[in-house]
Amino acid sequence: MDKLKKGRILKVLSLITLLLLAVAAFATEVQAQETCLQCHGDVGQNVEGSVHSFLSCTSCHTDITGFPHPEGASLDKKESVVTCSYCHKGQITESYRESFHGKAVHLGSQRSATCADCHGAHDVLGADNPNSKVAKANIPQTCATCHDKPSPGFAEGSQHFKLAPTGPGAPMYYTAKFFIWLTLITITALVIHIELQLYHNLRTILRERKRG
Ligand code: HEC
Ligand code: HEC
Ligand code: HEC
Ligand code: HEC
Ligand code: HEC
Repeated sequence: MDKLKKGRILKVLSLITLLLLAVAAFATEVQAQETCLQCHGDVGQNVEGSVHSFLSCTSCHTDITGFPHPEGASLDKKESVVTCSYCHKGQITESYRESFHGKAVHLGSQRSATCADCHGAHDVLGADNPNSKVAKANIPQTCATCHDKPSPGFAEGSQHFKLAPTGPGAPMYYTAKFFIWLTLITITALVIHIELQLYHNLRTILRERKRG
């Protein structure tokens, strides 16, 4: 057999192996999913009807393969956000990270809002679907699960804006800038004030020494 032929056969063989591996992985995933549904049928139905119908349970619950579940299989708020951020990156995730909710969850708050708190974990629907938790008409109700008596217009702003000098994030951007400068100017003025006071005290002491 010449070298060229051997190389071709190897290539075909490795391709077949890859294909088999992919089929096996898919079969395992389908099997795992079937297993989950034996006990979590209601969750399965929710996912089936959501924008994520193409995902399996283990796409998001990566550390669970069967029952009994490993310790720490339940997702706390931080892990819940990390789970959605496997796939949703960029502007959506960044704007969340910069929000009140994102910062609080990052600091360990167990009360603030995660992606799943506003969108649902298993029944996620696009904003244009009238049944979505984030459809325009349903947003006030979604916020009200935590914010008892929101002021009028509370739920009106966009939830995923960037702090940028233009666009819906502009007011927040300039407010943040304003407070940063206000802080810097206040601290500078304070330091100058203290230095002047010290200088004044020193001169008084020196003058009194001269006299005395
Ligand atoms: C034999 C029934 C059974 C099967 C099969 C099963 N679960 Fe569970 N699952 C439970 C029960 C009962 C609980 C709540 C008690 C507990 O935490 O063990 C639970 C809890 C959970 C939780 C919440 C976290 C937790 O530990 O409380 C997740 C997430 C979960 N299951 C995902 C899965 C996934 C994914 C699969 C498939 C790979 C699966 N389950 C298969 C019975 C099952
Ligand atoms: C798109 C990602 C995603 C998929 C797909 C997904 N889950 Fe979850 N699941 C989550 C998140 C995130 C949480 C945590 C909920 C929270 O933060 O309130 C969760 C929580 C759970 C819980 C805890 C109880 C609850 O409802 O909050 C169970 C049980 C569970 N999942 C089972 C499943 C099963 C079974 C499947 C497959 C049919 C599945 N999940 C598919 C993201 C997912
Ligand atoms: C394994 C990858 C993956 C994970 C994990 C995941 N998503 Fe998705 N999500 C997608 C894909 C892909 C789409 C479909 C995009 C489309 O249809 O344009 C989508 C669609 C969406 C949509 C609708 C967007 C639209 O334009 O219609 C929302 C909202 C959403 N996901 C929120 C979440 C939330 C909340 C979580 C966590 C609970 C999550 N996703 C976890 C991959 C993922
Ligand atoms: C405080 C509630 C809230 C939180 C927290 C939140 N979102 Fe949203 N999200 C919304 C609302 C409301 C919309 C509808 C459009 C808007 O207001 O920006 C939206 C829009 C989206 C969209 C586009 C949906 C579409 O159909 O176009 C995606 C994708 C999304 N969010 C994913 C996420 C992910 C991922 C996280 C976490 C990293 C997250 N969201 C956190 C409320 C929230
Ligand atoms: C899961 C509970 C939860 C949900 C749902 C939720 N929030 Fe919040 N939100 C909080 C908590 C708790 C705080 C207090 C600060 C912190 O810990 O993040 C907060 C703080 C805020 C703040 C800044 C401080 C303030 O009180 O003015 C705004 C603005 C806000 N939320 C708007 C919204 C809007 C709009 C929605 C709906 C799209 C929403 N939240 C949904 C829990 C939630």
